[in-house]
Amino acid sequence: MAFTIAIDGPAASGKGTISREVARVFGCAHLDTGLLYRAVGLRMLEGEEPLEAARALMPADLEKDGLRTGAVGEAASKVAAIPEVRAALVDFQRAFARRDGGAVLDGRDIGTVICPEAEAKLFVIASPETRARRRFQEFVAAGEDVDYSRVLEDVRARDARDMGRADAPLRPADDATEIDTTHLSIEEAVAAAIAAIEAAG
Ligand code: C5P
Repeated sequence: MAFTIAIDGPAASGKGTISREVARVFGCAHLDTGLLYRAVGLRMLEGEEPLEAARALMPADLEKDGLRTGAVGEAASKVAAIPEVRAALVDFQRAFARRDGGAVLDGRDIGTVICPEAEAKLFVIASPETRARRRFQEFVAAGEDVDYSRVLEDVRARDARDMGRADAPLRPADDATEIDTTHLSIEEAVAAAIAAIEAAG
């Protein structure tokens, strides 16, 4: 049976970790849709025109090194504000969502635009300071040279861009369950997500 779990939220809210765990627990496929925009952002940084890049995107692009850097995240959020780029990525995401065996998709507009019919919808949030601290720790672990206040500024700028854009802004679907991970451990956040999905299904 095809069932879709939509998990949206801002950068570093915990939605990626939750999505991977939810997919493992329910035994279904997982698509991190941020990687699509990151792959287009990376191609733009390499000099390609974003719309051409979005139309030519291949699964192998999602495996590239360097997609998780701060610079590529910034570029992703810029190309993600271009309606034609978003439109070029819709069919792939919808086809993924209807796979046999079910699918978890995480992103910014899965519950609102890509899969408004999803069987379960979560909206994962955390305070900007908590999210910046998590990102900062990831960058340090990856050997990137960054300072916390700069990361916090970037988190706020990315939130403003993702929430303020005209096309598919970041916002919860009316029927989404909100999970605030600010004071939750990973285990607690995953347990809250599973409970919400079971209640929806
Ligand atoms: O989730 P992640 O930080 O990897 O996403 C990178 C950027 O891609 C986001 O800041 C957002 O602008 C964009 N994005 C989007 N819609 C999605 C997923 C990501 O606009 N479904």
